[in-house]
Amino acid sequence: MRSLRTGSSLAALVTGAALLFTAPAAHAADSPLRDLAAARGKVIGTAVTGAKLTGTYGDIAGSQFSSLTPGNAMKWGTVEPTQGSFNWTEADQIVAFAQAHNQQVRGHTLVWHNQNPSWLTNGSWTPTQLSGLLQNHISTEVGRYKGKIAAWDVVNEPFNEDGTYRSTLWYDNLGADYIANALTWAHAADPGAKLYINDYNVEGVGAKSTALYNLVKDLKSRGVPIDGVGLQAHLVLGQVPATLQQNIQRFADLGVDVAITELDVRMALPADSAKLAQQAADFKSVVAACAAVTRCAGVTVWGFTDSDSWVPSTFPGYGAATPYDENYAPKPAYFGIAQALGGTTTTPPPPTGACSATYSVTSQWNTGFTGQVTIACSGASLSSWKANWTFGAGQKITQSWNATCAQSGTAVSCANAPYNGSVPDGSSVSFGFNGSWSGSNPVPTVTLG
Ligand code: G3I
Repeated sequence: MRSLRTGSSLAALVTGAALLFTAPAAHAADSPLRDLAAARGKVIGTAVTGAKLTGTYGDIAGSQFSSLTPGNAMKWGTVEPTQGSFNWTEADQIVAFAQAHNQQVRGHTLVWHNQNPSWLTNGSWTPTQLSGLLQNHISTEVGRYKGKIAAWDVVNEPFNEDGTYRSTLWYDNLGADYIANALTWAHAADPGAKLYINDYNVEGVGAKSTALYNLVKDLKSRGVPIDGVGLQAHLVLGQVPATLQQNIQRFADLGVDVAITELDVRMALPADSAKLAQQAADFKSVVAACAAVTRCAGVTVWGFTDSDSWVPSTFPGYGAATPYDENYAPKPAYFGIAQALGGTTTTPPPPTGACSATYSVTSQWNTGFTGQVTIACSGASLSSWKANWTFGAGQKITQSWNATCAQSGTAVSCANAPYNGSVPDGSSVSFGFNGSWSGSNPVPTVTLG
């Protein structure tokens, strides 16, 4: 049995007199989530950022999950930033990592209204040209990964909340049949991949999910290759739709698979033990609803750690939406998932007070990278801070913001700016920097002082 990865390379923590820190204990009583899920014939996945797949992040992604979804790496804007010039680096990396860890890959996403390259969105195209571009994009990307992708989110977010079609580049110029065509082209490029339509706010029975239901029914009746529907499940604390299982079942009864594709449960910050307990119940009920329906293939969480979640930047004041905290300690939500998959470990008490620093690479290119350090306090607070680390592969800071950074040899020390030294209990602050690298760009351990 693999043990649960907790804190082997946690960011080091403040040890000031006013602060008390209890390291997250190893809660290794259960098997990893992927083994629990496999025993029930389900897949448990996570969205990932390729640059982070090393150290503790890589350990957890590889050991706990049986499927990876590239969070951004397979989107059109990422893979073809300039027309005809492709960048498959991060997508290839994630696929290789998944293969090395005996994981599935969920391809995400081929046809969307967001994160398209500007040459495409700013271009002026006839419908015939646009259709040709879309076909070429799908054939190229699906063809590249033929045989390596278990399921594709072929079409993402085609509906408005009232169930009408969303006005997009695709719908406005090609009509609703862009969906059928995209599925047909994807099937031609990889007949073995399961092809999905994916959307949000379609978890419960309602106008939007019924529009999706009617679309799938129509596509099936026309013989269009559609294998499944993805329910994204970007949920708000305490608001799991009561009709979730019923909704999954009605799609299953149409003869398609269902997957929960982007589960997270956001809460107003700061998190506290009552909110974390509610979040555990929410994760558990979503996973249990999938587990109860044979045709529900599995659940993917949209980032497994709070340090790698889209929520705080999109919903200011909200966060803590994933099953692991920013220091990779499993939260009650982790145990909620495990319990829904038949695990028996009870939720451990939250650690007492600590402030910690988490380092992440937010983007990386051939010679440079952008990094971010987040300093978070829970049950403790800071009135000023310094984040210190040692670069392990010759990286150099070239510019920083929201902190004053100095580098001497491999040692970096970043002090708070005049306006962000205070980190109250339950809050966090972040600063960013650009740096140069070559060869490799390993993530250092940050200490606070
Ligand atoms: O890579 C750049 C970096 O170089 C730059 O410094 C930084 C400054 O803002 O931006 C970085 O790009 C960001 C990118 O994520 C990678 O981190 C974009 O600004 C940001 O908009 C983008 O957000 C993504 C979002 O889709 C865009 O709509 C999220 O990471 C991604 O998790 C999110 O995923 C979507 C699913 O695809 C579809 N369903 C909803 C879900 C959440 O929005």
